[in-house]
Amino acid sequence: MTETPRTKLEFSLSLYPDPVLRRPAVAIDHFDEGLRATVSAMFERMRASSGVGLAAPQVGLGLRILVLNATGRPEDDLALINVTILERSGPLTVFEEGCLSFPEIYAEVKRPERCKVKYCDLEGRQFEREFEGFESRIVQHEYDHLEGVLLVDRMSPADKTRHRAALAELVERFKTRASSKVAR
Ligand code: CO
Repeated sequence: MTETPRTKLEFSLSLYPDPVLRRPAVAIDHFDEGLRATVSAMFERMRASSGVGLAAPQVGLGLRILVLNATGRPEDDLALINVTILERSGPLTVFEEGCLSFPEIYAEVKRPERCKVKYCDLEGRQFEREFEGFESRIVQHEYDHLEGVLLVDRMSPADKTRHRAALAELVERFKTRASSKVAR
């Protein structure tokens, strides 16, 4: 495999507690070249950050787009547009989740093993699909982002205590960035 030259990434990550992460995302109504470009830039951002999933609010866009790849193989790239979870089923499982909007913070989250979704592809065609295991975990995590729900909301009280300092530091860093933008 040849190495691709490093190009500047179009999207930077929105980090907690950026308010864009709290706004419910809105549906896409134009399945055009702009959407394809956005999705492709989201995949780039996800890979550059070694993520397995990314939701549009995490790159500052309040749109119902999520991308994921559970294996790292290019053929497993999946973009879900206007996704809705129709059903969650199976036993609750615990898994340690990370989030690109919470660098270096990991927390155990309980979620049902399976989920069934309906979504559109890049051409606007509707599909239904059932996920299980790791993919289902990613879909449910990224879906939370579209509703403004974050890892910090899903943490156990013990994890919240354990990560209190790291969370406070993210808040401080956000305030510093926000005020330096105002000063400029
Ligand atoms: Co996340």
